[in-house]
Amino acid sequence: MSAALTNYDAYWMPFTANRDFKKKPRVITGASGHYYTASDGSKLYDTFSGLWTSGLGHCHPKIVEAVQQQVASLDYCMTFQVTNDKAVALADRVTSMAPDEFTQCFFTNSGSESVDTALKIALGYHRARGEGNRTRLIGRERGYHGVNFGGMSVGGMVPNRKVFSANLIPGVDHIRHTLDLEHTAFTRGQPEWGAHLADDLERLCALHDGSNIAAVIVEPVAGSTGVLPPPVGYLERLREICDKHGILLIFDEVIAAFGRLARPFGAQRFGVIPDIITTAKGLTNGVIPMGAVLVRDSVYDAFMQGPEHMIELFHGYTYSGHPVAAAAGLATMDVYDEEGTFEQAGALEQHFEDLLHSFADHKHVIDVRNFGLMGAIEMAPREGAPGARGGEAHKKCFWDANLVIRNGMDTLQFSPFLNSNPDEMQKSFEDIRRVLDTIE
Ligand SMILES: Cc1ncc(COP(=O)(O)O)c(C=O)c1O
Repeated sequence: MSAALTNYDAYWMPFTANRDFKKKPRVITGASGHYYTASDGSKLYDTFSGLWTSGLGHCHPKIVEAVQQQVASLDYCMTFQVTNDKAVALADRVTSMAPDEFTQCFFTNSGSESVDTALKIALGYHRARGEGNRTRLIGRERGYHGVNFGGMSVGGMVPNRKVFSANLIPGVDHIRHTLDLEHTAFTRGQPEWGAHLADDLERLCALHDGSNIAAVIVEPVAGSTGVLPPPVGYLERLREICDKHGILLIFDEVIAAFGRLARPFGAQRFGVIPDIITTAKGLTNGVIPMGAVLVRDSVYDAFMQGPEHMIELFHGYTYSGHPVAAAAGLATMDVYDEEGTFEQAGALEQHFEDLLHSFADHKHVIDVRNFGLMGAIEMAPREGAPGARGGEAHKKCFWDANLVIRNGMDTLQFSPFLNSNPDEMQKSFEDIRRVLDTIE
């Protein structure tokens, strides 16, 4: 099917400059392993492994087979009052990979739903314990927690909030973000500078009184804002302050979980254990939409009071624990185990870091950041046209270099496959450099 023969009028694309896109569409029609096929038949290397989703590569045969079998044997069943075998097995599997305290898994269909579910669980937890006054939620500037009203409200990305400003949920505040180029530019991995920024939470505890705060939500490594690794000691400090004031700590691991930081969960990589973990993306390798919220036993136990015939949490989605998604999730976990994916990811980190930081001398580049297999190259904005340089890089990579890259404004973001071939990874960065050299 040729892109030229397709009518794009009815298609309103998410997070895309629609009119610009439709002038010259970029359409993917197939994928295999580390490559996409475009509508003109060209093969493109995927530097973003989907949208941080597909760490194992596209169309992994084991996941494909599991989905095919499942859809032919149990296509759907509700999970209110009955359930399916695959959802039960996946909850058990995922909690067994998590830190010991995490015994509960609640399924959703996306990262945004995981976040809103986690916020609701945090509020319900305090109320169940007789602390219904704890209603305030704290996010972080530049945080991304999806696009539903809860996640958007605790999120801190201004363009996502601006239009909805008056309708964001009440009682939310934000701590400062951790990026400061003056102190941290071109740091490899976690910056040494910045642990003290966690003390901003103390400021909000003083302002609102800590006894009114239900939860703090942060991405352990901020992703969509352009990869901000936490300063050394920062997450530990957040944990301490939360403990001091009885506040739940939520790690939004929609990107970080399932190998992107070479461990099942970012919490394990950093040795900081939150109370709730949100996930999606790598849960099914992106094959079927699915998210999961992992919850500590102490949080779950607070809900398990009152008459046993009563619903404890009035929350759930028609597709929570969808059997086909759960089958994809189980197959994904099998592949992670069988192929040693998280170890593979860890072994690639140094190479990835070196390739990213080789851009430090490029004329457009003002910062390079990385942690695990998350990376960003930040370019200076073009005068009077922020985002133009990054957008041009994306389009030129697609058309002139057979590469799919992701830009957030003028920051190029990278999410390589967890099982990348080091030579292919290197070639992709060499090609990107050639493209950047042609851009004003
Ligand atoms: C940390 C984080 N939370 C939530 C989300 C939202 O996930 P979704 O787009 O699946 O709703 C994302 C998406 O990138 C994310 O990175």
